[in-house]
Amino acid sequence: MQSRYFTLNDHPKGMPTAELFTLEQSELPELQDGEVRIRNTWLSVDPYMRGRMDGVTTYIEPFQLGKPLDGAAVGEVIESRDSRFKAGDKVRHMGGWRDIAQLPAEQIEALPTFDVPVQAYLGVLGMPGTTAWVGLNIIAQIQDGDNVLVSAASGAVGSLAVQLAKAKGGTVVGIAGDQKKLDWLESIGVKAVSYKDKDAKQLSEDLKQACPDGFDVYYENVGGDCLEAALNNLRVGARIAVCGMISRYNDEGLSAGPGNLAMLLVRRARMEGFIVFEHWQHHNDFMSEFGPKVAAGEIDYQETVAEGLEQTPDAFLKLFTGGNHGKMLVKL
Ligand SMILES: NC(=O)c1ccc[n+]([C@@H]2O[C@H](COP(=O)([O-])OP(=O)(O)OC[C@H]3O[C@@H](n4cnc5c(N)ncnc54)[C@H](OP(=O)(O)O)[C@@H]3O)[C@@H](O)[C@H]2O)c1
Repeated sequence: MQSRYFTLNDHPKGMPTAELFTLEQSELPELQDGEVRIRNTWLSVDPYMRGRMDGVTTYIEPFQLGKPLDGAAVGEVIESRDSRFKAGDKVRHMGGWRDIAQLPAEQIEALPTFDVPVQAYLGVLGMPGTTAWVGLNIIAQIQDGDNVLVSAASGAVGSLAVQLAKAKGGTVVGIAGDQKKLDWLESIGVKAVSYKDKDAKQLSEDLKQACPDGFDVYYENVGGDCLEAALNNLRVGARIAVCGMISRYNDEGLSAGPGNLAMLLVRRARMEGFIVFEHWQHHNDFMSEFGPKVAAGEIDYQETVAEGLEQTPDAFLKLFTGGNHGKMLVKL
């Protein structure tokens, strides 16, 4: 059986382009004992993949040039030589960026059985949802009544973070990039602020207007001007959960940090980065709390779907231009 998969030709300099990716095809080796063959139905593209393209080990191994890329995917087992899986089983695994995956059974998990579309396990009930939950509950230690600011607030992580924060009863403000996203945030009771065509000073003033009392929690997805503006609007004792800094991922060389880091001191605030996989022991808590809510339609989760394996690089690139609302997915 043949598998089609993407490889990376070179390490991107700055913003990657579609030409850096090649769609290749090869015959899969014979299925061995303990292995499972899966037809992927949905692929996830995620901002962290950009860091893996630089050829440098960070908290995760880099992608190898010329080798199949990987990432989260869900699919259906088509052949199994492991007693834990059988043909037809719906599974999640890391053999993405391809149509057919062949993996050891230990690297595959059966999908939970909530009444949700399977692709939800790549987004709202997958890694992004868990990240929102961990960032707010474990890192920021959100309390009832906290005022919360979220950047990239209509994305996969941010859109759930704002809804988790709303449930705590304080004012929630979301930063996003276009009118459709701002309207969606307002429709779920989140005060929406655009960051487009503004410097940090203007954004800072707009945040102050949206939440004059300041923020107890900043859920950081973007960095740059968003961080600087957020620092100017912290309350005493604020917590910043540093989930990501997507505005910096395509920078060449080091970029200047915010000039107002001293606000951490002035407001006696704490800023802490985290990687969700180091907190995966909370995934079950998250699933027990949110699986039923998502299945009951109580969480408004959005998806942007690209159709066809060939679209995977474009779908990935859209993450850096705001071309997605909610979870960016590729449907095969
Ligand atoms: N720490 C962890 O374990 C962990 C896990 C998952 C994700 N993350 C991080 O969480 C963040 C969100 O990830 P996600 O998967 O949910 O992606 P996402 O928010 O669904 O997609 C990225 C969004 O970022 C915004 N963006 C892109 N470039 C920007 C820029 N220069 N300035 C401002 N906004 C920009 C865009 O929205 P607009 O239209 O609003 O610009 C875009 O839709 C990323 O930083 C990611 O690296 C961290």
